[in-house]
Amino acid sequence: MSQQWWRDAVIYQVYPRSFADANGDGMGDLEGIRSRIPYLSKLGVDAIWLSPFYASPQNDAGYDVSDYRAIDPRFGDLDDFDRMLADAHEAGIRLIVDLVPNHSSSEHVWFKAALASAPGSPERERYHFRDVDPAAPDTPPNNWQSVFGGAAWTKTPDGRQWYLHLFDPSQPDLNWDNPEVHEEFKSVLRFWLDRGVDGFRIDVAHGMVKAEGLPDTGGDGSIEMIGTTQAPFFDQDGVHDIYRTWRPVIEEYEGDRIFVAEAWTDSAERRALYLRPDELHQAFNFDLVLAPFQSADFRKAIDSEVANNAGVGAPCTWVLSNHDVQRHVTRYGGGVQGLARAKAATQLLLSLPGVVYVYQGEELGLNEVLDLPAEVREDPTFFRTNGEQIGRDGCRVPLPWAKEGPSLGFGSNGSWLPQPGDWPAKSVEAEDGVGGSTLEFYRQAIAVRKAHRATGLTWLEDPGDNAFAFDNGALVSVVNFSDAPVPVTGYGTEVLLASAPLVDGNLPAGSTVWFKK
Ligand code: NOJ
Repeated sequence: MSQQWWRDAVIYQVYPRSFADANGDGMGDLEGIRSRIPYLSKLGVDAIWLSPFYASPQNDAGYDVSDYRAIDPRFGDLDDFDRMLADAHEAGIRLIVDLVPNHSSSEHVWFKAALASAPGSPERERYHFRDVDPAAPDTPPNNWQSVFGGAAWTKTPDGRQWYLHLFDPSQPDLNWDNPEVHEEFKSVLRFWLDRGVDGFRIDVAHGMVKAEGLPDTGGDGSIEMIGTTQAPFFDQDGVHDIYRTWRPVIEEYEGDRIFVAEAWTDSAERRALYLRPDELHQAFNFDLVLAPFQSADFRKAIDSEVANNAGVGAPCTWVLSNHDVQRHVTRYGGGVQGLARAKAATQLLLSLPGVVYVYQGEELGLNEVLDLPAEVREDPTFFRTNGEQIGRDGCRVPLPWAKEGPSLGFGSNGSWLPQPGDWPAKSVEAEDGVGGSTLEFYRQAIAVRKAHRATGLTWLEDPGDNAFAFDNGALVSVVNFSDAPVPVTGYGTEVLLASAPLVDGNLPAGSTVWFKK
């Protein structure tokens, strides 16, 4: 069967500010990424998803874009980008870039022009402005709350109008009822497609269209980025019309390029709507990010994704960590147990049919850093909730590449967030070539997966309570979510890979084994 690469790829998320710092300014950059492509090649990944590197005031770590066609000088320039892309392609690694169409930065020329123009002007029509009501000057136009905390409306400096921002006030929402916005983003797509990128991850892909008249939400209007269900600003049906105009654009280009949606929906059914053949290729499935480490929860999420995506002919996607959520080692309890479970869950994902996303550093077994001092934190969530929500900095701490050095090989100086004292032992240098290390486990697991590509999923009899087994057409995968060993002798004789060694035919607590069929 001729297989499109994106149907079963392993895609590695690079978070540029925290991956590798070539120029020693404490923040990662494109040249740093380029220098580490051999590492990614050895890991065996098929593609990189690169979080935003565009010109940006960095109020939301680059998800506040002031120029969609320029590289932030902190990360390099367009020549650096081209060199990095060429090296990735040379190594057989594809590159997906992040597109942020729901909002721009308030430093974008369009927003600056809007503020400099009068209410009702075409410049203001590119965003969502509403008049301040003189009878209730402090009451925003509706009850919507920002994902980062506080009202989703801020007044213009002259106090005459409000503008909408579902995220930080420095991230005004674009008005997708305006044809100019559509034309601009199609042009931005072409700009990067012409440079050779292999696709786009679409930020807040479920958010661009707002319900007619911007009605109040139910309840108190508060929203969560993770897990918010359909709302007047999320998962509106009209958003699909946008993707139907984007698909023909990407289809004009050779090379099997793709769109992947960050679309938080309240069900796998609604998520699959984004994946209809004339819309997007993939949508992140965050169900396993939200699922506790329990076989019933995992199985339910897996079944639902498989059934719904089959209905639209799209691949399943599997995600455990990214730059917005607590790292899965820590979610599963941290320490030895957390790491064991994290490896078991990762090995499970790598045996499922579909696409697996790996977040930088999970291949080293990195934990969430929970004790960052307030003064080094940068996530707007922390500040807009007055520290009530700790925010996402803890999963964004720069990678440790070496056992020593000012930023453990991340760069030649410090790093924008401090690394914990026990990370030298989790560095690439400490794990590379060392049997039993998490890094070697990931390398092996990805290699075995490639040699045994899943073609389906048939559940087998459970080996015990809180454990399951399935045949993916190429191997048998058995996962023990419980706290006690389970017997697995009935599933195969030749072990292809085990996240923890079997003991007398038993699979230890919190581990996964693959048997040859
Ligand atoms: C989702 C991104 O993953 C997150 O990091 C960002 O803060 C919001 N979208 C807003 O762009």
